[in-house]
Amino acid sequence: MKEIAKGIWKLTYQTPEKFTPCSMRKSKIAVEELEKIDLEVCQKLPFEEKEIILKTTKRGVTVSIPMQTEEDIYGFGLQLKSINYAGRKRHIKVNSDPTVDTGESHAPVPFYISTAGYGVFVDTYRYATFYMGTNSKKGASSSKKEVNQPHKEFSESALYSLKRAKEQRTVIIDIQGAEGVELYFFAGTVKQVVQRYNLFSGGGIIPPMWGLGIWYRVYGGSKEEDVKKLAEQFREEQIPMDVLGIEPGWHSHSYSCTYEWSSLFPNAQDMIDSLNQNGYHVNLWEHMFVYPAAPFYQKLKDYSGEYEVWNGLVPDFATKEAREIFSDWHRVQFVEKGIAGFKLDECDNSDFNPSNWSFPDTAEFPSGMDGEQMHNAVGILYQEVIAEAFEKQGIRTLSQVRSSGALASSQPFVLYSDLYNHKEFIRGIVTSSFSGLLWSPEVRDCVNETDLLRRIETVIFSPLALLNAWRIPNPPWKQVDINKNLENIWMEKQEYYTKQCRKLLELRMSFLPYLYSAFIEYQRKGIPPVRAMVMEYPDDLEVRTIDDQYFFGKDILVCPLTLEDGMSRKVYLPEGKWHEFFGTAVYEGKAWIEVSAKEEEIPLFVRENALIPLAKPVLHITKETVFEITVLQFGSGEAEFILYEDDFETLEYKQTGVKGIRIYRKENGVVEILDKAERYRFL
Ligand code: GAL
Repeated sequence: MKEIAKGIWKLTYQTPEKFTPCSMRKSKIAVEELEKIDLEVCQKLPFEEKEIILKTTKRGVTVSIPMQTEEDIYGFGLQLKSINYAGRKRHIKVNSDPTVDTGESHAPVPFYISTAGYGVFVDTYRYATFYMGTNSKKGASSSKKEVNQPHKEFSESALYSLKRAKEQRTVIIDIQGAEGVELYFFAGTVKQVVQRYNLFSGGGIIPPMWGLGIWYRVYGGSKEEDVKKLAEQFREEQIPMDVLGIEPGWHSHSYSCTYEWSSLFPNAQDMIDSLNQNGYHVNLWEHMFVYPAAPFYQKLKDYSGEYEVWNGLVPDFATKEAREIFSDWHRVQFVEKGIAGFKLDECDNSDFNPSNWSFPDTAEFPSGMDGEQMHNAVGILYQEVIAEAFEKQGIRTLSQVRSSGALASSQPFVLYSDLYNHKEFIRGIVTSSFSGLLWSPEVRDCVNETDLLRRIETVIFSPLALLNAWRIPNPPWKQVDINKNLENIWMEKQEYYTKQCRKLLELRMSFLPYLYSAFIEYQRKGIPPVRAMVMEYPDDLEVRTIDDQYFFGKDILVCPLTLEDGMSRKVYLPEGKWHEFFGTAVYEGKAWIEVSAKEEEIPLFVRENALIPLAKPVLHITKETVFEITVLQFGSGEAEFILYEDDFETLEYKQTGVKGIRIYRKENGVVEILDKAERYRFL
């Protein structure tokens, strides 16, 4: 085992495979930043190297790592169905329709974190399986002698509920098809391990400020005029809006794609120019499967896989040629012409979809990768290809993607899904935060008006605030019922709901500087901007299974409600004092409380002695935006917040750095702004 950076060790076993996340990575380990992580708490791993057992069998490589009975386990990428994997099995396989809790998802990652003070990343694109203390070895129970103890568990739920093991167990990792493997071990608390993994992955992204504003995907049947009309309408009705996303209809053929404008958009360039002038950033939907009529089809043919998907080529993004052909086309045709980002759809495999919308695991690719490896790699490779087009242009993007995986924290992409369970979407915010992923719990159609508000409340406190109206021609606040929306019939109280939605979207806009500053900490320290409670309070056993409350930025605890919750829910407040953000109540922590929230309210709690810079909401970000900031104070002790600024949109910060403006309050003192700001004016 070799220490490759502070608190990170690499273990090489026999001959690792050629195609792995690390062997193919483009990002660099953020070595300097890793040096700075405070090592006081955990300096070493909780086990010796000799306790890690590696074996080669006919199946592939098996790894065993000791596991204590009280350990709790997190990570494994985006997980929509559960949060804590102690005593569970995870199967790392990209799958767009996971129906049960196997570990499969849009973005599974072969990385886990243990509350025992370490994390493990298995450098593989194989469908690895992790048994997290699910099994004990023969003989472990041989000392048990109790008899005549009546059986008490008469329901399936009691019989199969999660029980902590009493006997010694192990983590077993099964990597089929591999002859050797590399493992990376990270030391530290849950948060430090996540930080180390993110910095190992290259550090977090800094999105453009506009990317943190409000996103809206327009109706799939929209024509050029419809998009322009909707854009005007948002401005007229003073609905904050930064990004407009155009759905498949912009391609002259989609599913598979041509990457050329269709006849519905005869003057596409004029439309882009006028949207840009009106302060919108335009995002285009696509998938990676290349239709025969696409202009670069012939060029790409030799650099694509053995099977078609949706009648199109599957580019082999592990080859330099395919990457260049695809990336250059995007740069010259779109990025140079004012397109700000893309939505990379359907790069996630499905085992259930009844058509040829994916390739088999047996597929061969010219690079030498097989279908199994490609399924787990393609989300990341595709992101890199598109990100490259923006990098060459010197601008930042924030884009969407439906599949991701290992070492993703430095990719400017946010995950989304077609699945639509609100509770699972909230859980996704929490679970994705362990593995360098960002998740958007987008709003689409809603059961009723309350559902709409509840979903928007979650969305505005997530990494990407997106309304995906691809199935409805009018905004959901005018009509939540799809059929009526298609017929332009408004809801009776549409004015009221427009007002409520506008207020929530404005609330998001007022948090932009606060959230942007959290992203700077993501890039520099690897701290996820939105994250699970267990990262902040790892020793509080109560938080170890909480998957419906989370931290938004440095000091705010978000507790969203869903339609099923009604107008109240239970909230857990960890140690310390907690202030209501909207009210005046102060609670003593380490307690569960019952909180009520009307349909237009979301409970937020602020840590004692926090300063929250809140901006006067703007309708959208421009090159000149100067935020008018009010600093909200909580508690009366010493407090500090660093607000960051730069040009908010180019890659210049990589040379010049980002400027920190220190907001400080001495105990019982007044708030002082200790640095001069250009993009902020303090009220
Ligand atoms: C789905 C995607 C939706 C929407 C739709 C358009 O695959 O998840 O958000 O873009 O395609 O056809």
